[in-house]
Amino acid sequence: MFDAELEKFRSALSGICDLKELEDIKRAYLGRTGMLNEIRKNTDMRGLDDAGRRQFGESFNSFKRAVESGIEAARVEFSVSLTGEAPLGFDPTLPSREFGLGAIHPISLTQLEVEDIFRGMGFQVVTGDEAVTEYENFDAVNVQGDHPARDMQDTFWLENGMVLRTHTSAMQNRAMKTLGVPLRAIFPGRCFRNEATDQTHENTFYQLEGMMIDEKINVAHLIGVMKELLDKVFQRDIKVRLRPGFFPFVEPGFELDFKTRIGNSERWMELMPCGMMHPEVLREGGVDPQKYSGFAFGLGLTRLAMLKYGIPDVRLFNKCDLRVNAQFTASV
Ligand code: DAH
Repeated sequence: MFDAELEKFRSALSGICDLKELEDIKRAYLGRTGMLNEIRKNTDMRGLDDAGRRQFGESFNSFKRAVESGIEAARVEFSVSLTGEAPLGFDPTLPSREFGLGAIHPISLTQLEVEDIFRGMGFQVVTGDEAVTEYENFDAVNVQGDHPARDMQDTFWLENGMVLRTHTSAMQNRAMKTLGVPLRAIFPGRCFRNEATDQTHENTFYQLEGMMIDEKINVAHLIGVMKELLDKVFQRDIKVRLRPGFFPFVEPGFELDFKTRIGNSERWMELMPCGMMHPEVLREGGVDPQKYSGFAFGLGLTRLAMLKYGIPDVRLFNKCDLRVNAQFTASV
C-alpha cells in the first residue's frame, strides 16, 4: 500500500550526507507533523470496513517499521564515520559502497604465489624489518666499509644511523642467528634505493630473498629449486642457465637466466642473481662453513610481476591508480 512512499523514503535516505540531514528526514517522516501522522490523520477509518481497516493497519505498521529501521541503520553508519569506531553489529570488512570490491595488487599476487611454491618445497616464510642496521645491510653480508660494492647502491640513511634496507639480503644474518641451521627460508619484502626513477627503476620495490643451508648443499640444489620455482610460476617447462656474476656475499656468484619466447624467437632473459653463500657470511651468522654450505638468491619480485603480467612500466605499481589494480582479480 505504501510502496511508492517507501521507495521515496529510501532514495531520500541514500542521498544524505550527515547526521543533521538524517534528523531532518526523521522529523519529516516520524515527527508530530510528519508524513506518518499525516497519513493516519487523513485516512477516514470509519469509511473502511473491517478487512480494509486491517489491511491499512498492517501496511501502515510495516511502512513505519521500515522507516524506523532505515533511520537507525543510517545512524549507525554515520556514527562510524564520525567517531571512527565500529559499533556492535557493524562489519568493517564489507566492501565499501563508494569503491566496490577491491583487488589484490599484482605484486602481492606474485608474492603469495611464490610463497606457496616455496612452502611446497619446505621453506618457511619469514618477514623482516624495513629499517635495519648498517651492519645487517652491509657488513654482515660481506660488504665492508671501504668495499666498492657499497657504492653500487644509493642508500637512504636514517638520522639514527640505520638504513632503509637496500636489499632483502639484509635479513640473511638475522635469519641464521635466530633460526639456526639447517635452514630453508625465504624473506619477501620491500626495499629502498635512492635512485632516479624511470621505466625500470623505482626507489621502492620488492625482493624475495631465499636461503638454503645444510650439510653438502651445492649448485645442483640451487638450480633444482630455481627451476621448480619458474616451472610453477610460468606453468611450463622452463630452461635455466647460470652465468658468472659478482656479489660480495656469494662465492661463486651467478646470474640466473631463463629461456623465454618473444614472438617467434627464443631468448635468454636475466632473472635473478644467486650463488653459494660466502664462508664469511655463514661465519658472521654463527654457522660453521667447514660443516655447512648453502645457496642464496635475490629474486626481484617487482620484476617478476612485470614479466608475468606484461606490465611495461615499474612506476605503475606505486601510483595508486585503481584502474591498474582493478585489472587483477583476487584469484588467490
Ligand atoms: N642483494 C642483491 C641485490 O639486491 C641480490 C642478490 C644477489 C641476493 C645474489 C642474493 C644473491 O642472495 O645470492 O642486488
